[in-house]
Amino acid sequence: MADARPIGIFDSGVGGLTVWRELVRELPHESLLYVADQAHVPYGPRPPEQIRDYALTIAAALRKRNCKAIVVACNTASAAALKDLRQKYPDLPFAGMEPAVKPAALQTRSGVVGVMATPGTLQGRMFMLAVERFAANLTLVNQPCPGLVQMIEAGETDSPQLEALLREWLAPMLKAGADTIVLACTHYPFVLPLIRKVAGPGVQVLEPSAAVARQVARLVNQHNLKAPERAPTHQFLTTGDPAAMSASLKRLVGVDSEVTQL
Ligand code: DGL
Repeated sequence: MADARPIGIFDSGVGGLTVWRELVRELPHESLLYVADQAHVPYGPRPPEQIRDYALTIAAALRKRNCKAIVVACNTASAAALKDLRQKYPDLPFAGMEPAVKPAALQTRSGVVGVMATPGTLQGRMFMLAVERFAANLTLVNQPCPGLVQMIEAGETDSPQLEALLREWLAPMLKAGADTIVLACTHYPFVLPLIRKVAGPGVQVLEPSAAVARQVARLVNQHNLKAPERAPTHQFLTTGDPAAMSASLKRLVGVDSEVTQL
């Protein structure tokens, strides 16, 4: 039987919308309930215990709103909380973000890969395990990008200041010979054109949102959660300012929608 309940999806802010738009493409009949934890953005510099608490609170809210599955559309929260979330809600399917180290290892020819992520992701166990498993023979140049998430939250996705910062952040990896860059923060695809411009045509930039959407589609099928074939409803909540989130929705993903306070 079809299951019309929504799929919950959350991030510290607008970053998860890069995954949200792929979910809409991949699963056009699924209703989605998006939570932006903008009262606490950025997650990146916070201790993992704190991020875990935020993630557990949001998962409880999504569950209360009858979500049938949850997508942790945030690398930092996936690193800090995915294991605990799965333990706490064994009956609820979860999908999370993982740094795309494996595809990078398969695609690089120079053997040098740049990773852009928050400090929380770079210091997390998930990244360490991915590096151990897939990057033993690679040179990784890791780059935390302090302030980038806040700039994207504030709507700054294309400015000379941002371009100058990206030149600084990308310089060490390009100098080391990186031909592949992994975006391991869901906010960063919103500055993909600028990253491509700075990196140049010889460098491929990988971001996993489409792969995550396909993974969610597999989960939905596996657990018999498929929605009926009719128009879905999409809802947006924030722990921050609903009017600001509503403006971001329009600017970043072209969606005209009200946003509710969580
Ligand atoms: N978009 C998130 C991530 O993927 C969170 C970034 C942040 O809040 O610092 O890591």
